Amino acid sequence: PDTSLSAELQARMRDVPDFPRPGIVFKDITPVLADPVLFPRLIQALAEPFRDQRITKVVGVEARGFILGAPVALALNAGFVPARKPGKLPSRTVTERYALEYGTDALEMHQDAVLRGERTLIVDDVLATGGTAEATAKLIAQVGGELVGFSFLIALGFLDGVKRLGAHHVHRLITL
Ligand code: PRP
Repeated sequence: PDTSLSAELQARMRDVPDFPRPGIVFKDITPVLADPVLFPRLIQALAEPFRDQRITKVVGVEARGFILGAPVALALNAGFVPARKPGKLPSRTVTERYALEYGTDALEMHQDAVLRGERTLIVDDVLATGGTAEATAKLIAQVGGELVGFSFLIALGFLDGVKRLGAHHVHRLITL
């Protein structure tokens, strides 16, 4: 990726210690989103490697994946699909449960949101353990979509997360 853009993005993100729990340093991306020049550059950079990939659906993961995924979908002339926490989507859904450090969580997607064979990109702000991204990939697999790759603003401990994502193209702008 464009190293000067990565440096600018990193400089505009805010480290918030002990959020949401003691011992966690939260990467606050809201200053980047609020910047009218940096935000569109971020979106173009997330979309860039997938421009010629005939993507027709972008799946964004709740909640910051919605903010990034919807404009990436516009940039790729694709449709946007939300992957949501349980109980939020009104129509028929597919579900994937995944393990957290303590307990489990789940993601849902509308069953008819990605069609069989549709070339699909997953967008989220952060790749950490990869549990969320892997669950999202499984949602797409459940409905027969063709997963082309992933686009993340930040990859933390990249190798651990990416191992769970198989042979797919994993694009990320910042690796920490
Ligand atoms: C964060 C982030 C990713 C996920 C990455 O979401 O936005 O979706 O964690 O972690 P993983 O790779 O270890 O699965 P969060 O759980 O904070 O949900 P939110 O965006 O709804 O606040």
